[in-house]
Amino acid sequence: MNDTSEFHSKNALKSVSEICALQDTKQIQNAKRRDFVKNSGKFALASVALGAMASVSPLLANSGTNLSLAKNSSTNSNSNLTKNSGANGANSNSVASKNTTHSNKGAKMLYTTLNNGVKMPILGYGTYQIPNSEAQRCVEDALSVGYRLIDTAQAYANEQAIGEALKSAMKGGIKRDELFIETKLWISHTNEKDAFKAFETSLKKLGLDYIDLYVIHQPYNDTYGAWRAMSKLYKEGKIRAIGVSNFYADKITDFCAFNDIKPAVNQIELHPFFQKVGEQKINNDLSITVQSWASFAEGQNGIFKNELLSQIGKKYGKTPAQVILRWLIERNVIVIPKTTSIERMRENFAVFDFALSADDKAKIATLDTNKTLFIDHRDPERIKWLANYKA
Ligand SMILES: NC(=O)c1ccc[n+]([C@@H]2O[C@H](COP(=O)([O-])OP(=O)(O)OC[C@H]3O[C@@H](n4cnc5c(N)ncnc54)[C@H](OP(=O)(O)O)[C@@H]3O)[C@@H](O)[C@H]2O)c1
Repeated sequence: MNDTSEFHSKNALKSVSEICALQDTKQIQNAKRRDFVKNSGKFALASVALGAMASVSPLLANSGTNLSLAKNSSTNSNSNLTKNSGANGANSNSVASKNTTHSNKGAKMLYTTLNNGVKMPILGYGTYQIPNSEAQRCVEDALSVGYRLIDTAQAYANEQAIGEALKSAMKGGIKRDELFIETKLWISHTNEKDAFKAFETSLKKLGLDYIDLYVIHQPYNDTYGAWRAMSKLYKEGKIRAIGVSNFYADKITDFCAFNDIKPAVNQIELHPFFQKVGEQKINNDLSITVQSWASFAEGQNGIFKNELLSQIGKKYGKTPAQVILRWLIERNVIVIPKTTSIERMRENFAVFDFALSADDKAKIATLDTNKTLFIDHRDPERIKWLANYKA
């Protein structure tokens, strides 16, 4: 994880009394919400809302977007895939060459097809910097809004609370195969022996018997050994797809050249100020789907008030946040915005009812600075710092 220290330093800015007051209010809110979850069957409703498979969204079909990336099913193949694939899975013989939408009551979800035929929601919910004490409430809220892809990591230290939220959601009517759970293996466990143990620990904390997408979090330590372990778990049907994160173009090319099973996903920093068009092409040419972390640059550079994004949004009655998510989705980039506010969860979810024009996209292209706002994964000092962080 890149920014643990930033998270801790942010919280360090709050006084102890502020934190206690916050926690008290949150505990009351959480208790109320828990009762609501138990009594209202809100997950059952959300489950129905996303249950029916519709045809390819006409909006997306008309947007000129290339949404048929995962035609190549020859990689990441899993003989046991159908066992765990459920409603959203598919074996490689039935790979759809287009994305599909699930819709009802105005709620829609677009699925992208990974290189092994597994269908993955293109929009999910990110949980970095959400402490264990808050993560259950946040994930329950996200599921009630309609999110089904939840992104977490061993290093986020919130898998346990997310597991509680998943348990409560499944009790409330959401089926396991509607969910798409992604978690990541931290550097200190990135080797063949420790990867098995770390995987089992994550599985247990999440309260699951398989993971939808398991990812090497950082491109360090024995990534090849860890990949052998992950490949074995994948072939055993304990993971539906395996992927990587923060692998730059050279590393991902090398990794694909010397592994039989290719990563299905590469999760990388990607936002309007760091657009990575060339890097996405390199991944896509290797049949890897790109997933964006920090789609909002974590709010840096005044992104939520950016004039250009506001102007574009105004035409469609959308906010800069919605324009950003829509822009990434139209590039077939999977997005996982993080927010602790249910209102903003709803806002970030409402991105399937408009399409950007070529002119909008040309304007957004001008925001690219081609520079990271967070971390250069080739910087020796940052590598040393990350290598010392134990999860
Ligand atoms: N693989 C990696 O190395 C890596 C690194 C970083 C992140 N990630 C993953 O990617 C996910 C997303 O990245 P991120 O969490 O770093 O940052 P992000 O999604 O770019 O930004 C999150 C920030 O935006 C605010 N926000 C969210 N929606 C908003 C809206 N509609 N309007 C105004 N503000 C809004 C949130 O504040 P509030 O919470 O107050 O709403 C939060 O401060 C993470 O949660 C994690 O799952 C992976």
